[in-house]
Amino acid sequence: STYVHRFRASVRDRDAVPETPRRTQDRSREEIADRGPGFRNEPDTDPALAANRDWFRRAVAARAPAVAGRRLSIPDEVDDVVATARSSGWRDVRATERGRLLREAARALAAARTELLTVMVAEGGKTVAEADPEISEAIDFAAYYADRADELVHAPFTPDRVVVVTPPWNFPIAIPLGGCLAALAAGAAVVIKPAPQVRACAEVGVAALHRGGIPADALQLVHTEEDDTGRRLITHPDVDRVVLTGATDTARLFRTWRPDLHLVAETSGKNALVITPSADPDLAVADLVRSAFGHAGQKCSAASLAILVGSAATGSETGKRLRRQIADSVRTLRVGYGTDPSTTMGPLIAPPEGKLERALTTLDRGERWLVRPRRIGETLWTPGVRAPVRPGSWFHLTECFGPVLGLMYARDLDEAIAWQNATGYGLTGGIHSLDPAEIDRWCAEVEVGNAYVNRHITGAIVQRQSFGGWKGSVVGPGAKPGGPNYVAQFGTWTDGPTSA
Ligand code: ALA
Repeated sequence: STYVHRFRASVRDRDAVPETPRRTQDRSREEIADRGPGFRNEPDTDPALAANRDWFRRAVAARAPAVAGRRLSIPDEVDDVVATARSSGWRDVRATERGRLLREAARALAAARTELLTVMVAEGGKTVAEADPEISEAIDFAAYYADRADELVHAPFTPDRVVVVTPPWNFPIAIPLGGCLAALAAGAAVVIKPAPQVRACAEVGVAALHRGGIPADALQLVHTEEDDTGRRLITHPDVDRVVLTGATDTARLFRTWRPDLHLVAETSGKNALVITPSADPDLAVADLVRSAFGHAGQKCSAASLAILVGSAATGSETGKRLRRQIADSVRTLRVGYGTDPSTTMGPLIAPPEGKLERALTTLDRGERWLVRPRRIGETLWTPGVRAPVRPGSWFHLTECFGPVLGLMYARDLDEAIAWQNATGYGLTGGIHSLDPAEIDRWCAEVEVGNAYVNRHITGAIVQRQSFGGWKGSVVGPGAKPGGPNYVAQFGTWTDGPTSA
C-alpha cells in the first residue's frame, strides 16, 4: 500500500504566527477526495511549526481532569442504564440527521484537541507523536461513519437498539469513540464502559460527542469493575451487541458468559515485518522501530517480530550491517513520559507482569539480547531486542504487548512467510522489499488482515486502511473499523423497506 502521512497545515495557536511553509501532502489529499463523497482524513498537527511545538508543550503541561462519571456498583443499576438507552428514541432519528450530528461531533472533537491531548498523555501514557494522530483518527471515524449513516436512509435495515462498547486502554480515544460512533451511525443507542486505566480519557471524548449534539440517553458512559455488575452489562438480555477490542481470551470469556452474544471483537496479534535483502535498510529499520516501539509496543498492531531473509539474516556484511543498524536505532529511543515532548518511547501502562515480564527478563534457549531491556522506573523500561527467535518457540507464538522485538533469521522468503503465518493470529504484517516479484508473492500468501508494503505496520488510516484481522485476531463477523461495512453490522437487514 502506498502511504503518505499528512499534517495539519494550520497552526493550533490563537496568537499570530509568522507565515510558515505548508506541510500538507496535497497529492494524497486529492487521491482521498477521489474516493469518497466529501470525506477527508483529518490532518495531524505538524511538529515542524514552532507554534505547534509550543502548543504541544502547553498541552502536555496542563493538568488532566479527574474521573467524574457514573460508577455502577450493583447489577440493578445496569438495568436502569440499559432501559434508558432502549427508550432513548435514537433509532427513530432519521439516518441523515444522525449523519449530521456525527459531523457536528467530529467538529466538537477537533475543537477539543488540546484537552484530548492533555488527558491522553497524563492518563494514557501516550507521547505527543502517538496521541495527536489518534485524535485525528477519532475525528475521521466521526466523519466517515456519518457518510455511512447517510447511506442507510433508504436501506432495508433495522438498527440494533442497544450496543455496549468495551474498549481497551491502549488507544484511549480512537477505539472507544470509534466503537460508539459506528453504533450511533447505525441508529443504536450506546453504553460505553471504558477501560479502568483510562477513564478520564473516555470521559473527555464522550463529553465532546455530547457537545456535538449526541443526546445523553443515546450515549451513556458508565464505569464498572470486572465483577457481577460488569458481567450483567455484557450479558444483559436487552443488549443486542457488544463491541470488544481486547484479548482473544476476553472474547472467549464473554462467549462463555452468554453463548448467543452478538460480539464484534477485534483481538490479539503477533505481528511480523519481513525484511528481504533487496529492502532499503534505512526505510526498513525506521519503519521497524516505529512499528515495534511506538507506545512502547503496547498495540495489537505492533511489530513483535522482524523476520530477516536470506543474506539479511546471515553473518554476511549485509546481515551484520542490518542488525547493527537495528540495534543502534533502538538504542537512540528516548524513554520517558509524554509530558516531556522529546520523549520518543513512553511508559508501560503498569509494571510488567506475566508474559510481558517474561519477555523482558527471560531468554529462551539459544537466544541472546542484541539490545538488553532495562527497568529505569516503575513503568519505564528501555526497549529490548532478542535474537535469534526460533520457529515454534515461546516468543514466536506469544503476544507480549510491550517493548520487546524478536529477530528471526529465515533462509528464504517462503520460510519467512511460513513463520509469519504460523503464529495463530492474523492481524497486521509487513514486508520491506524493493523486488516486485517478492512483494507480489508475499501479498498473495501472507495471512493477515492488514498487509503493509514498505510501510510501518501500525497506525491504520480510516478509509484507506480499514483495520482488522483474521484467525485468532477476530471473533465475530469481522467487518473492519474505518471501512465501508463496519456500521452496517449494527442492525438487521430485512427484505422490505424500513424507515431507518
Ligand atoms: N488501529 C490501530 C493501528 O492500526 C490499532 O495501529
